[in-house]
Amino acid sequence: MLTGKRILLVISGGIAAYKALELIRRLRERGAAVTPVMTRAAEQFVTPLSVSALAGEEVHRDLFDLTKEAEMGHIQLSRVADLVLVCPATADLLAKMAAGMANDLATTLLMATDTPVMAVPAMNVRMYLHPATQRNIATLTADGAHFVGPVEGDMACGEFGPGRMVEVPEILAAIEGAFSPKPLSGSRILVTSGPTHEPIDPVRYIANRSSGAQGTAIASALRDLGADVIFITGPADVAPPAGVRIVKVDTAAQMLEAVTSSLPVDAAVFAAAVADWRVASASDSKIKKVDGALPTLSFAENPDILATVAQMTKGRPPLVVGFAAETDDVITHATAKRARKGCDWIVANDVSPETGIMGGSENAVTLISKDGAEAWPRMDKAHVAAQLAERIAQAVAAG
Ligand code: C5P
Repeated sequence: MLTGKRILLVISGGIAAYKALELIRRLRERGAAVTPVMTRAAEQFVTPLSVSALAGEEVHRDLFDLTKEAEMGHIQLSRVADLVLVCPATADLLAKMAAGMANDLATTLLMATDTPVMAVPAMNVRMYLHPATQRNIATLTADGAHFVGPVEGDMACGEFGPGRMVEVPEILAAIEGAFSPKPLSGSRILVTSGPTHEPIDPVRYIANRSSGAQGTAIASALRDLGADVIFITGPADVAPPAGVRIVKVDTAAQMLEAVTSSLPVDAAVFAAAVADWRVASASDSKIKKVDGALPTLSFAENPDILATVAQMTKGRPPLVVGFAAETDDVITHATAKRARKGCDWIVANDVSPETGIMGGSENAVTLISKDGAEAWPRMDKAHVAAQLAERIAQAVAAG
């Protein structure tokens, strides 16, 4: 049931717009209120009269409507809903959303909203498969939008393939899924990610190689399970995920400070590739290159953030997860690392060059816990993240 939920339904101009009428009826049967918004093109496919009669509310169509701006205003309209549903979402509207355009009421609401956005694409197969559309969907997904479909099937244009809008029952299931409590709702989870940069002087630094891809994927997967994620990241290559609290740091010392000041948490995942050493006395000014003379750097050991948190006597997170990248005897080394650091789990992987894991899209990990070693099949990093997030959810639920 969707009792008490308000859906801001943006109808854009495609032949599948007629299915939005059926959707409005089914949403209202389930107790939801529907605030309809139509683009100009949508009016070519369904009439505002039908939409407003079924919704039991007036249709919003104009950005520059004096009466409506006086009564409510488009910014407020964008905030009244529990979910913004774009159905159908045409290639054109997705392109405008991905580009951040706001040149009519629908696009302005989509830019101004702070509410989760769900899009139900419907378009010709060639338009859907076009690199521009695929790029736009990837951008919007990274921005935190959820997509339902499309599916393969016969199209109104006579072609066959992906691009067909999903049917109303599937849209309803996705909406109900979006409102149902998630396994990590109410939990606070910290994730470290990326490398740290340890300055030599204001322009030079030492660092580990790390793209931040696995840490970012883990933070996204925990967010998708409903966790309040604190994402503490060094200067990574990949963009931080949407919908998490981002804390940007440079050095290991800053990362430790950010971690300790984020406690208490229900679980902490340490995926960062922290530099083991820093330059003992980094220079405040650029070290000059002098012919024939080489500078000498002396190092100091960085704090081990994972070990510090895992061995806290007060305020230790109930679940502390570390990573181990090894090139030989993975299980032996990772098991020893778990004991040395004092963490609950170690996610170990073999990064020897022949595996192609370092910098690749796949990972083959072994989860080391007090119960022993559990090898997971090789899968892409997003699936490793999803599976790890599921396991974390089980552990958090078990207390
Ligand atoms: O000792 P090693 O660097 O192999 O340990 C890897 C694990 O420890 C990772 O989880 C990493 O995030 C964490 N770590 C840390 N602080 C350090 C070094 C490693 O949190 N200074």
